[in-house]
Amino acid sequence: MKLSTPLLASTALLAPSIPALKIATSLQWIEHTPQPYAIKNFYKGSSTATLSSGGVANLASGTQFDLAANAETQGLKQYANHKNIRLIYIICEVAYRLVARKDSGITTLADLKGKKIGTMPGTSALVFVDKMMSSVGVSSGQYTVVSGNVCMKAPCGSGTFPQMIKDKQIDAFGIWEPAVELGIEALGASNAVVFQNASLYREVYSLYSTTEKLNDPTMRKDIVEFVRALNQTLDVFTNKPDTVYSTVAQAVGMDAATVKAVWPDHKWSGTWGPDLIDYIVDEDAYLSKTDKRATIAKADLEKFLDTSIIAEL
Ligand SMILES: *[C@@H]1O[C@H](CO)[C@@H](O)[C@H](O)[C@H]1NC(C)=O
Ligand SMILES: *[C@@H]1O[C@H](CO)[C@@H](O)[C@H](O)[C@H]1NC(C)=O
Repeated sequence: MKLSTPLLASTALLAPSIPALKIATSLQWIEHTPQPYAIKNFYKGSSTATLSSGGVANLASGTQFDLAANAETQGLKQYANHKNIRLIYIICEVAYRLVARKDSGITTLADLKGKKIGTMPGTSALVFVDKMMSSVGVSSGQYTVVSGNVCMKAPCGSGTFPQMIKDKQIDAFGIWEPAVELGIEALGASNAVVFQNASLYREVYSLYSTTEKLNDPTMRKDIVEFVRALNQTLDVFTNKPDTVYSTVAQAVGMDAATVKAVWPDHKWSGTWGPDLIDYIVDEDAYLSKTDKRATIAKADLEKFLDTSIIAEL
């Protein structure tokens, strides 16, 4: 017994060190939770995989990370100047919701003209709000954007959207979950009107890598293993959600009942169909205006959507 500890220690020192697969991701949203679940339950790469707070910007700014997870909005923003980035898998698609107060006279989206709408500028949430409003002929200058914070669990504090809508500081807000669910609960369902249109806007929360990482055979093997583990995870998230509500709730500081309430708004897609390219072309056209840059050629956007890892599973 006494000898075994030093022996083990020296063996560990001599073992070749295999670097961990490094993944940059938000750690606070529901959408990211398949990743820790996949690492814990299914991942069989050559070494461990580690998650750090970050996103697709980390792939653009250096080579420290091998993978990143983020909404398609952030993916496109980075791809505009870093054509080596690839979207290789879809973790989750979320049809965002916009909740409005009936007691401020709102029954249709068009009623929000001239009103105050809470959302987060620079993110997929503002893209969503803009797309919803322009679909009913209300342009971005015809309503007031009010910034605020999200909330993961009631009671929602000062400066969060659910508190702001309850206290009539805003007429509506649109963002990812569960803030909208908590906003509906704070208002009371009878005073809430909810708008959602997945074909107009859904977040496509995706996994990204770079051509350099994907072309490295050793790294590519681990990336395939990680995506395989994610694919097994999405099967559980889709078909046995009862087994994961509390794990997801714990990971992001929510109540399991709220996770369950917003689960139907989350689609654990994995792969994608031929319609995604047009969706991405449309969003790029929108972002090119707000970010004051040229649009990305469709041929480049086709390269951005890379199904080659999925094909290897
Ligand atoms: C959703 O948006 C599409 C346009 O992308 C539109 O054709 C459709 O009518 C909308 N659906 C609803 C329920 O508003
Ligand atoms: C991913 O998982 C699903 C089960 O949910 C399975 O049907 C599918 O074949 C898997 N995809 C690949 C490419 O292995």
